Amino acid sequence: MAEPESRLVAVSNRVGPLSDEGQAGGLVVGLSDALKRRGGLWFGWSGETSDEGTHSQERTEVEGNVAMTTIDLTEEELNGFYYDYANRSLWPLLHYRLDLAEFDRASDRIYRKVNHRFAVRLMPHLKENDLVWVHDYHFFYMGSELRQAGYNGRLGYFLHIPFCAPEVFSALPASHDIVRALLAYDVIGFQTDTDRRNFVGFCVRELGGRKLEDGRVEVGDRTVIAKAFPIGIDAESYSRFAVSPEASSHEEMLLDMSRDRRNLKGEEAERKLIVGVDRMDYSKGLLERFYGFERLLEDYPENRGCAIFLQVAPLSRSELDAYADLRSELERTAGHINGRFATLDWTPLQMMTRGFTRKALAGIYRAARVCLVTPLRDGMNLVAKEFVAAQDPEDPGVLVLSRFAGAHAELECGCIVVNPYNTDDVAGALQTALTMPLEERKRRWELMREAVFTGTAQHWCQSFLATLEAVGEAGAGSPPS
Ligand code: ADP
Ligand code: G6P
Repeated sequence: MAEPESRLVAVSNRVGPLSDEGQAGGLVVGLSDALKRRGGLWFGWSGETSDEGTHSQERTEVEGNVAMTTIDLTEEELNGFYYDYANRSLWPLLHYRLDLAEFDRASDRIYRKVNHRFAVRLMPHLKENDLVWVHDYHFFYMGSELRQAGYNGRLGYFLHIPFCAPEVFSALPASHDIVRALLAYDVIGFQTDTDRRNFVGFCVRELGGRKLEDGRVEVGDRTVIAKAFPIGIDAESYSRFAVSPEASSHEEMLLDMSRDRRNLKGEEAERKLIVGVDRMDYSKGLLERFYGFERLLEDYPENRGCAIFLQVAPLSRSELDAYADLRSELERTAGHINGRFATLDWTPLQMMTRGFTRKALAGIYRAARVCLVTPLRDGMNLVAKEFVAAQDPEDPGVLVLSRFAGAHAELECGCIVVNPYNTDDVAGALQTALTMPLEERKRRWELMREAVFTGTAQHWCQSFLATLEAVGEAGAGSPPS
């Protein structure tokens, strides 16, 4: 009889929902896809605050084979742990925005305390043989806290965002503590090989570690596996979403927008819909993207009166100044571009902050001739993969992708690669994409489709867990058999 699978226990700050409620964020999307298949326990923050915080009562919701157990934060923890340390210190730092990063010891203390409390609260749920898999930059210390609380089982960690270059990471006052704490995990997963190299580089240069074979790194008496496991999407399901009635109605609505214009002009113009879909985050390069579109209209005037850029940008972390400032700046710039180029029957740039279901988004992607994905830094970027999966094989759109997105490693085979800081480059890529002949669009799309259907969410989950399972009793010290 086949061995029963070990139970998966996933830990992340955000937990669920498994159902599609139009929420934005790559971690929840990727992890839901993986957990729905495998089942298990998903543990993390409830999204609520209460006076008892992490001493608060647990809530458990069960959906199919997944139990989601969550606890609250206190108001102080929400500020110190989530807003200050995770999103004012770690997020900008790891995305190479030292200019925005703020470091202070009060939030460092609260961040460690929350990691400790979550570990203590998770302990009673753990069983022998579980595979514990901790996610993202909110829980760097969780593994070492679990070890201190007596957990001896297998522990994996996956970082969804970039791991920056060692010289940048070393600006963080707690950089040594964090990397030493990470060494409590058996397997440490990254989105790309660049992230892995940066981490190993830090271990070697700053902590006197040694790079071993088979992706292992040794620091003092600890040996861990550090490896890239690029996250993917449930490509089969996504391509089915794209032909669902909900998707089709959204696709039609957008196509109508351009059809109306064609009728007004009485000519069969090319479809020129460009879309961008991103949380409103400074790492996504939205402002630079707006300038790129403006340059397209300046330098390639044939697009005036017909190209439409639809930017879907759900609000994210709006309580933080950097995010509120970005929103004002984007609204101002969109107003400026529209004011400059709009005509009575044409508004070139539309930005909306609302959420869409995955099916509706799939329809939006399918209506687009071009998807503009131009982050200044991004761990992976699932939007790029979703766009590819949603295309009509007979008339696929073109992906314009930043060289600084993790997805670039897998999709450079078929996308148009841009430097998002270079406005001329973005405008030129847009023009190439808008005028690309069907045969070339198909050829490029086929290559990307292959990559997206190979590197799926299921594959990501299975390959990470297989590596963690192979660690076995011996720990990561011995090479995997
Ligand atoms: P990040 O994790 O930084 O937010 P990703 O591109 O990896 O970036 O993931 C974003 C996820 O959020 C994607 O699955 C995307 O479809 C989803 N998303 C983005 N905007 C919206 C929106 N307006 N409504 C619903 N989902 C969205
Ligand atoms: C990125 C991070 C996730 C985070 C998500 C949404 O995808 O990697 O950990 O959950 O953004 O951000 P939020 O701060 O709302 O959780």
